[in-house]
Amino acid sequence: MTTVVGREVRHLHECDSTNRVLLQLAAEGAREGLVVVADVQTAGRGRRGRTWTAPAGTSLLCSVLLRPSMPRRTWSLLSLAAGVAVHRLATSLLPSAEVALKWPNDLLIDGVKAAGILMELAADAVVLGIGLNVDWRGVQRPPDLQATSLAEHGAEVSVADATAALLPLLDEAYRTVQDDPAAVLGDYLPRCGTLGREVRVHRAAGDGEALRGTAVALTPDGHLQVRDASGVTTDVQAGDVEHLRDDLAGDA
Ligand code: BTN
Repeated sequence: MTTVVGREVRHLHECDSTNRVLLQLAAEGAREGLVVVADVQTAGRGRRGRTWTAPAGTSLLCSVLLRPSMPRRTWSLLSLAAGVAVHRLATSLLPSAEVALKWPNDLLIDGVKAAGILMELAADAVVLGIGLNVDWRGVQRPPDLQATSLAEHGAEVSVADATAALLPLLDEAYRTVQDDPAAVLGDYLPRCGTLGREVRVHRAAGDGEALRGTAVALTPDGHLQVRDASGVTTDVQAGDVEHLRDDLAGDA
């Protein structure tokens, strides 16, 4: 079996953003499977234009270059498959914790975010950037940042070992999504904590106000379907999901 993800790994001590670096390398013709890893980022990118901040040495920060041959409308499955890989890693380290994916691919441990994935597209390439908090013990967090890490739940793993363990899981996930896209949803659904929940979904800027309702299903391409109080179901291709507490479910 040929390894694709991680057949070449470039380790940087510091960069602005591993996604930015890899998008540049992609434009210069880099081969798919190239991974860029950093100890620290000075301008880490999060979803919806947010920044992603992690003190040096506390977190797994990496980006993977893919050049998928599958139809472009199915590329969103790549982001779900990467979430499955991160979930597999976390549960292998924390077999007793409550680990779940918030659609599309935030990793939650006991309901608090420990990892995020940013998928960025270039002409014929995809860059999947993964930030996983490995050991944030003693890290001061701003009051508005709800974040946890593997070590705070008892996992004893170094950033280097976590990275080395994740790459083969990402490779396996990439093989699955290309060979048998339907199997990705089979892997994803039991790990997803969003389905059946009351949610608020913030879609892309300009897409109107947040959508509120029950997350009822995923489409074959991995879009989230949300049914509102009047019974209308909306297909969400991309967005930020808030899991609403059950006691807020009846709120306006
Ligand atoms: C999110 O907002 O949840 C996605 C965060 C993705 C962060 C990672 S860290 C490594 C890679 N490089 C970046 O600039 N962002 C991603």
